[in-house]
Amino acid sequence: MCGIVGYVGKRQALPVLMDGLRRMEYRGYDSAGIAVMDDADLRVAKSVGKVRALADSLVDTTVAGTLGIAHTRWATHGVPSEANAHPHVSCDGKVALVHNGIIENYAELRAELTAAGHAFASETDTETLAHLVEHLMRFPGVTLADAVRSAVRRVRGTFGLAVVSTDYPNEIIVARLGSPIVIGVGEGEYLVASDPNAIIGHTRSMIFLDDGEMAVLNRDGYRVVSLENLPVAKHPENIDWSAEDAQKNGHAHFMMKEMSEQPEVLRNTMRGRIDFDAGNAVLGGLRDVADRTREIDRLIIVGCGSAYYAAQVGEYMLEEYAGIPVEVELASEFRYRKPIITPRTAVIAVSQSGETADTLAAIREAKMKGALTLGIINAVGSTIARETDAGIYNHAGPEIGVASTKAFLSQATVFALLTMFLGRQRQMSVTTGRRISEELARIPDLVASLLARQDEYKAIADKYAWADDFLYLGRKYCAPLAYEGALKLKEVSYVHAEGYAAGEMKHGPIALVDETMPSIVICPVDSVYEKTKSCIEELRARRGKVIAITTEGNHELDNLADDVIFIPKTLEMLTPILAAIPLQAFAYHAAVRRGFDPDMPRNLAKSVTVE
Ligand code: F6R
Repeated sequence: MCGIVGYVGKRQALPVLMDGLRRMEYRGYDSAGIAVMDDADLRVAKSVGKVRALADSLVDTTVAGTLGIAHTRWATHGVPSEANAHPHVSCDGKVALVHNGIIENYAELRAELTAAGHAFASETDTETLAHLVEHLMRFPGVTLADAVRSAVRRVRGTFGLAVVSTDYPNEIIVARLGSPIVIGVGEGEYLVASDPNAIIGHTRSMIFLDDGEMAVLNRDGYRVVSLENLPVAKHPENIDWSAEDAQKNGHAHFMMKEMSEQPEVLRNTMRGRIDFDAGNAVLGGLRDVADRTREIDRLIIVGCGSAYYAAQVGEYMLEEYAGIPVEVELASEFRYRKPIITPRTAVIAVSQSGETADTLAAIREAKMKGALTLGIINAVGSTIARETDAGIYNHAGPEIGVASTKAFLSQATVFALLTMFLGRQRQMSVTTGRRISEELARIPDLVASLLARQDEYKAIADKYAWADDFLYLGRKYCAPLAYEGALKLKEVSYVHAEGYAAGEMKHGPIALVDETMPSIVICPVDSVYEKTKSCIEELRARRGKVIAITTEGNHELDNLADDVIFIPKTLEMLTPILAAIPLQAFAYHAAVRRGFDPDMPRNLAKSVTVE
């Protein structure tokens, strides 16, 4: 979604800002803009479309200056247009501002400011803030920081903000409520961003603002205060991934790069976390709450999209091996229900970005009701990671491709570790724990062997390129994988796909089946194999084409399915981790064949920070 970047230092700001904007392109956006302080003059440029269009529009102009802010916009209020793109500028041209989030009471503020003589140039909610800051600065003795603080205190909604003014040509003011802001600490320079990836090439030392905080930055330092103007002591944290981690490294797309990284990602997720002898997981992030997790009698797991499906895989694992009742809820629904929470309930948020608005709201609701809150989060220092009581980082590195691949696999792996941890706190035997540990240790190599078979997956994607609709079916551990496989295909290739638990097929979707509607059936040799196999028979009886995913050595489906993809044998609970690989690859090759860029699917944003 929207992205913010800012710079104050000794270097020219424009190249730093443009580089930051490019590094945030993966998040999804429709227009971009910059404002650079050229002496005490503001140079503002905006463009609809890609950052490249903005760069092209600046080719014949000199934009000099060592302080500036920039933005990529994902339209919420008003169509993508130059007028609606950020930065927004006040009537007197002195204040420029970029904003992520939503100003819910903007209509009210706009009416008030219009009555006071302000003229609006856009349809956005954000522009009201630029005028409000200008308006407040007219009062004697009110500084830029005072005006921003007073302005945001009038806002209902969410914001991550960066503001500059020609009256304060050496200052950037940033503020946050519900939308991330990170400050990069360099040598004699400070950077600002809504996403650490935008500035990681300049510094790994970062300060994460919390909600209700703002900061004043200039070349010589920074000062963080609360929105009540009380000083807040903040210390930089070191981010453990590098700018290179966010490059394609010779792959055509980030999606393929991230799929290829999965063996290493899973090793990183598990590194130092398995005690083979004790048949247990060593989860440092849960150490301080281990006494509470022992007493937990119910788990609620919340997430959105792929994270939600990974949670469903986790539900099967936790119920089967840890014996804890588990409910998995869409975060967007959980926040509006009246969940029954007791002090012995733990609510786990699963999120790659750690910034998804619905998941964050769900965790806040759970916390307010007294639950133990835990996070399974990839982005270090993200809001959910900081707001949960304890958690487990994925260590998957930055995921740039919009479609979740390595994050999904690593989330499922974390659930296996959590299952051992909670299971061993309860009835799970050391023998079972050891069996899971040993099998988990084999998984990265098995994933690598599956990844090496791209030609096979591509050939199947090519063979079915005629199909406009797909059914994905799976049972038990593989039911969530059917949902995930269908999601992957539709989001990157725009082919219609529906994921169903295989047992549901006869309750409706079978009406769709004929020779034009192929099905991908995940049918490993597991405890429900015979049932899933019957489903393939039923599809065939209706002339449906079938691509089956089954276990190596099982040739029963060779004559039943049109195409068979074999995956190695593993524990039933870990099968989804292996079966995900051909599903991801099928979606990727289908997208590329259709001429789409799987890294930037239309209408999608990498991190959904508004409701
Ligand atoms: C699908 C996908 C999304 C995300 C969802 C949650 O490929 O990437 O469905 O899984 O938006 O995002 P996070 O994990 O950042 O909370």
